[in-house]
Amino acid sequence: MKSTRFLFALFLACASAAQSTEPIIIKFSHVVANDTPKGKAAEKFRQLAEKYTGGRIKVELYPNSQLYKDREEMEALQRGAVQMLAPSVSKFGPMGVREFELFDLPYLIPDAETVDRVTDGDIGRNLFAKLEPKGLKGLAYWDNGFKQFSANRPLRKPEDFRGLKMRIQSSKVLEAMMRELGALPQVMAFSEVYSALQQKVVDGTENPLSNLYTQKMHEVQSDLTISNHGCLVYAVVTNRKFWEGLPADIRGQLEKAMAEATRYERDIAKKENDDALEAVKKSGKTQVIVPSAEEKAAWKKALVPVHREQESRIGKDIIEAVYKETGFKP
Ligand code: LMR
Repeated sequence: MKSTRFLFALFLACASAAQSTEPIIIKFSHVVANDTPKGKAAEKFRQLAEKYTGGRIKVELYPNSQLYKDREEMEALQRGAVQMLAPSVSKFGPMGVREFELFDLPYLIPDAETVDRVTDGDIGRNLFAKLEPKGLKGLAYWDNGFKQFSANRPLRKPEDFRGLKMRIQSSKVLEAMMRELGALPQVMAFSEVYSALQQKVVDGTENPLSNLYTQKMHEVQSDLTISNHGCLVYAVVTNRKFWEGLPADIRGQLEKAMAEATRYERDIAKKENDDALEAVKKSGKTQVIVPSAEEKAAWKKALVPVHREQESRIGKDIIEAVYKETGFKP
């Protein structure tokens, strides 16, 4: 009897030793291609996380909506089916955290450095705190530069948008922006945009150039306007219970990996988008329009009313806090 108990105890010890050598899996799902700022930064994070944890963490990357589309991936993260995402902050409205849509206010942020200053400061931290009651934990902000308008007709003046069906992310601010231009906004998952443009379900959309090019949208859009009307900001998020359940040393190593991957992402974003613009031009498939100073002023005049309109939705205080940081004058 004694030897059976000893053998059983020995068996249990071996089993748990074997189990503890199993790496902890982080499924990192996202909706864009690998050769984009987010795709490359996710890969960088994977390499560093596995290196710094000595293989105690294994990161499985699922790009291009392989596992889940925009909305589904948020739900999957909340229920723990995946452990990490880096969605655009324009997609937190449907889960009730609409303050993130502040980054969709047209012409609010003049450049990437300002995005980083705003997101790395109190404003960014306070927004992350709003995710905690939703079971999520914010780890970092990545940015993908300016968004540009594209369509199957030239967009030189705000009125050129009239009656166009324009694909947007699930943000009420983006919806208001398109309505302000007289366009018809259509919320759609990112992975569905190319075929919707090809089949003329929608006429146009807005994207950073790296997304436009890697999704081949330039092949089904005759015109692209370098409008720089807004920035695309990502929030790298994890499941709060998963994160808090990790051993403290592993959490520290992952934070180090995330900090380095974030610096890397911010370093490459501008060049990735500049290279994408050159590739679009080289393809000869899309006319690239660079608005004149007067045309730019007309865009701003047409779109800035969205700020006042969305104040009650986003919150006057947080908008004014960003105005202070960015020096924006409505
Ligand atoms: C979009 O849906 O247009 C973007 O948020 C996709 C992305 O993650 O860059």
